[in-house]
Amino acid sequence: MRLPESQLAVLQAADATNGTATDRLADQTGLDPAAVTRAAFDLRDEGLVTVDQTTETSADLTAEAREYLDEGLPEVRLYKAAIEAGADDEPVSMGQLIGASGLAGPQVDIALSNFARKGYGSIDSGDVAADPDADPDADPEVAALESLAAGESVDDTDLLDQLERRELVDQTERTVRTVTLTDAAVTALMEGIEAAETVDRLTPELLTSGEWQDVEFTEYNVEADAPGVEGGRKHILRQTADRVKDVLVGMGFQEMDGPHADADFWINDCLFMPQDHPARTHWDRFALDVPPIQELPDGLVDRVESAHREGVGEDGDGYHSPWSRDFAEAVALRGHTTSLSMRYLSGFAGADIEPPQRYFSVEKVYRNDTLDPTHLLEFFQIEGWVMAEDLSVRDLMGTFEEFYKQFGIEDIQFKPHYNPYTEPSFELFGTHPTTGELVEIGNSGMFRPEVLEPLGIECDVMAWGLALERLLMLMYGFEDIRDVHGTLCDLELLRETEVVY
Ligand code: PHE
Repeated sequence: MRLPESQLAVLQAADATNGTATDRLADQTGLDPAAVTRAAFDLRDEGLVTVDQTTETSADLTAEAREYLDEGLPEVRLYKAAIEAGADDEPVSMGQLIGASGLAGPQVDIALSNFARKGYGSIDSGDVAADPDADPDADPEVAALESLAAGESVDDTDLLDQLERRELVDQTERTVRTVTLTDAAVTALMEGIEAAETVDRLTPELLTSGEWQDVEFTEYNVEADAPGVEGGRKHILRQTADRVKDVLVGMGFQEMDGPHADADFWINDCLFMPQDHPARTHWDRFALDVPPIQELPDGLVDRVESAHREGVGEDGDGYHSPWSRDFAEAVALRGHTTSLSMRYLSGFAGADIEPPQRYFSVEKVYRNDTLDPTHLLEFFQIEGWVMAEDLSVRDLMGTFEEFYKQFGIEDIQFKPHYNPYTEPSFELFGTHPTTGELVEIGNSGMFRPEVLEPLGIECDVMAWGLALERLLMLMYGFEDIRDVHGTLCDLELLRETEVVY
């Protein structure tokens, strides 16, 4: 048998009865630990060794723990001061004990919370009573810290976890691999194995000298386990947002851009949302205490006000409810990006609005909702509109089918809906890939004349707002939006979720 040198060295250093850790094999062979691991997996694939894998946890003291080893744990210091002051007889005021113990800053809180937890005594309206039977010299946390400091291991995992919660130890896990020879290896070693001088990489020297023609190359094992490399990567939400943009650009759309905090005029008034609508008073609006936005186009403001008061068209009827310009100028975080659609459709954003036109944005919106598995206070909305002559609901539905198809979603369902600004209106639903539940993924409709006429638009406009996070739920099977966003977001999941392009 012929084997590459590194594999032969590992075989010769390993044992048939006891597993040898790869670190020890590295010491014995003089090979680099990664090379030993690589050789071990190659040998395993040849049936010459078995590789066992276990995780080992090591605990290291933090700087804070080292400080306490010198000075004593804060609760122990408090207890000693309490005994000295006679608090085992008669409660003593906390202020006096803190002064006497020399505790300061955050250590005072640490002392107080652990004092009671460990049964050193009780604290009642500022007075500390010490339990005369408590024994700080038998404190298991102190004993564990001392063992760790002496380089001994501590087996009580609950105790270690408790110390980790107190930030007194850091626990780290590492994978330990041990290598054991198989019978086949023992036989092969007895028969004699020849070391093959193999080359594992092509170097400029090999190339220029022409030596590459004569050397033997190591086989490349693409299936061998290798240490994971956790490099940076784009967050899947951002990745999907970019993909959505690419798809919409491919469908002939241009991108809109505009402020996150905007005048209520653009967020609501232009959309024929009455000023006394519950969403505009307290329901889900994040009002901002900043100066109003007074640069609104006067002509449009007048036409919008008149649409609200009297309606538009011959049979039109308005809300006949109060309308004030001050309210329209007040600033809030946008609850939808339809504010951008209004800025663009009115011409205020400066872009050409001669029909036909198609625009989109994939941007953040803010709602004062209650957090739950499908609702966040902020999320990304995929806004879009198409302006053209003679559009119908079939164009709207067809656009969604084409859009979602790009993400592998082919079972969109529509449900009639109500929006003050569209008629007809539709909610969109998709089926969750694992739970099979219908998930609401968006809202859409054809803008009504009360919206279009003040904007001076004479053709049809179909429009929508879709939730990017919901699209992700359908694509990846997430059930809780908080898996993808925010503080509870699972790093492993973000690292491991397959990139879909
Ligand atoms: N603004 C709507 C929402 O946030 C979406 C929408 C936009 C509906 C445009 C119809 C037309 O739910």
